[in-house]
Amino acid sequence: MMNRDAPLVLGIETSCDETGIGIVRGRELLANVIASSMDEHARYGGVVPEVAARAHLEALRPALTEAVATAGIQLSDLDAVAVTSGPGLSGALMVGVGAAKALALSLNKPLYAVNHLVGHVGADVLGEEGPLEYPTIALLVSGGHTSLLLVRDLTSDVELLGETIDDAAGEAFDKVARILGLPYPGGPHIDRVAADGDPKAIRFPRGLTLPKDMEKHRYDFSFSGLKTAVARWVEVRRDAGEEIPIADVAASFREAVIDVLTSKAIAACKDYGVPRLLLGGGVVANAHLREVAQQRATSAGVELRIPAFSLCTDNGAMIAALASELIMEGAEPSSLNFGADSTLPVTDIHVH
Ligand code: KG4
Ligand code: ZN
Repeated sequence: MMNRDAPLVLGIETSCDETGIGIVRGRELLANVIASSMDEHARYGGVVPEVAARAHLEALRPALTEAVATAGIQLSDLDAVAVTSGPGLSGALMVGVGAAKALALSLNKPLYAVNHLVGHVGADVLGEEGPLEYPTIALLVSGGHTSLLLVRDLTSDVELLGETIDDAAGEAFDKVARILGLPYPGGPHIDRVAADGDPKAIRFPRGLTLPKDMEKHRYDFSFSGLKTAVARWVEVRRDAGEEIPIADVAASFREAVIDVLTSKAIAACKDYGVPRLLLGGGVVANAHLREVAQQRATSAGVELRIPAFSLCTDNGAMIAALASELIMEGAEPSSLNFGADSTLPVTDIHVH
């Protein structure tokens, strides 16, 4: 019989470049092992899907062994296996889905296929502060996504308010780092360099914030114009033989990204009368983003929640946590017929 009060769940996450195996018991985190193939993508300046898929194949077994040992459990103790079935890179997702099916079948355990983006929101239940109340607005920012969600209920009602129409926020950091001659992944390097710069030195464009955009694309994001503006700005000065004030460019770019992210997220809180905002994704590593979000949340009377960083980047614990919530709500397992779905909509929290 499955324990539905505090189920022991193993979660598998392979949607991008992190191989994540997490184990939870109810809302208690027992293990969160993450193997990243980031280094293998560095020389390409971005995640290469085939390289990521192959790396998952190699990393899965050792990560599984380590997670089980850390949690101090036997695989046979599990109540269920959970896996990210989308959205993400197809080949990468397929590795996790295949592994999860094989594991569930061989252990004769129920399998729950869940949504990666909603998993980021689910990470919150593992925090020390107790689970967030709903509804909440969630802003998810990483190398792969920039999404603004209205979560009325974690397990049954999630709506996509907006997302990027071109580059993801993290991707913009990576591309601008490249323009400035900084290594990949760009976020931490831009951050480091920006510390000595003036964020007001250059007024870079804020994508989709003009009054006409705020009608049609109120909660959508666009970073490709910003990236082009930075490239142009740098090019003009390079051509003129001037030295590039890298710190100022980095600080001004970072300011533009953070300004748009936080103002749109807070606008969503106000528009929907939701006094809660949850952040997730690897870009949350940006301390300045966290500061500005906190300032703006405080002045808008919004409670800001940011999970521990190891739960913000892609990980298997958040997938296990979301499945655990579903199980506690009485949700039925997925049939074995589901497949990887690179464009799984956020409304499909759980794939049947
Ligand atoms: O969630 P994550 O680890 O995985 C992927 O999306 O693959 O996010 C990685 C992204 C990269 O684009 C990286 O440049 C960005 O997060 N990032 C940052 C910072 N640290 C990582 N962006 C801005 N500031 C940072 N400190
Ligand atoms: Zn993610």
